[in-house]
Amino acid sequence: MATYTYGGCIEQAYRVNWKIKDVLGTVDFDLGRPWLPADLSGSGGIFCLSPEEKRKLTHVEMGAYAHLVGFLETFIAPLMVDLALDSEEEDPHAFEALTNFASEEVKHMHLFREVSRRVDARLGFPLKLIEGQGEIARAVLSRNKGAVLLLTAAIEWFTQQHYVSSMNHADDLDPLTREIFRCHWMEEAQHARLDQLEGLRLFKDMTIMEREEAVEDLVWLLATVDGLLERQTLLDGLNLERYLGRTFTDQERSDILEGLLKAKRHCFIESGVSHPNFLELFLSVTTPSQRARVQGAVDLLLQKRPAPWTLPD
Ligand SMILES: [Fe+2]
Ligand SMILES: [Fe+2]
Repeated sequence: MATYTYGGCIEQAYRVNWKIKDVLGTVDFDLGRPWLPADLSGSGGIFCLSPEEKRKLTHVEMGAYAHLVGFLETFIAPLMVDLALDSEEEDPHAFEALTNFASEEVKHMHLFREVSRRVDARLGFPLKLIEGQGEIARAVLSRNKGAVLLLTAAIEWFTQQHYVSSMNHADDLDPLTREIFRCHWMEEAQHARLDQLEGLRLFKDMTIMEREEAVEDLVWLLATVDGLLERQTLLDGLNLERYLGRTFTDQERSDILEGLLKAKRHCFIESGVSHPNFLELFLSVTTPSQRARVQGAVDLLLQKRPAPWTLPD
């Protein structure tokens, strides 16, 4: 198993720390380029759109992707403050590393809000994005802390994979988008390692019943994330229609929603819970039957059809 240390994480965090103004600089998004790779935007799997429409889809989808990452970070920041207070006496570096982690996450939320403003300005209309971060964060944080930590670990490992596998070498991708997610990737690398340290610490002291509760709550949390993805997918369809200035046929709407939701589930659920480093933690804190329970729930989520094309509540 990989061995990380709180001291190593805080040292590296200070080394790579950046400011929002340096990330966003003076360059704007380039409308002539894709803003999100095909596998993360779903553009590769939607066949009713022309090449130009697919490029425009990636613009809408980058806005949604950045918003969803920032949305999920709303519960991660207070979770880390809570864990920092727990672990203060166990390791002299833990408190500092975890509070710095929380502070970076708040900075990321600010960054993604600024990204949203810039996307709206570039596209010429405000993207419809899901709301209710505070309410969802409170509901998430009311669940078993080990479950919330496992979900957090899945999220932070997928941010690593998305940048390295899909953005780092994508030379045609919009340069500003690449810079935003490169900077995010650099700070998230320490977060993911701290999730592993904290996950092992939390589960070590849990009773069998508490571990069972953590597994059930993780299933609930994954379904909650899926609900957010479904809501944003419907909004993405509306955003795309407005951006392209045409009304889709019923068949096109169905194909678009299907392709977008599949890509979102791959991004925000599948690529996290199947990441080798997430699995290393997950395997060390769960039994085979608990893992089968979570895998079965994930398999069911991935098969669910999107809701019909309507304006969500
Ligand atoms: Fe982040
Ligand atoms: Fe993070």
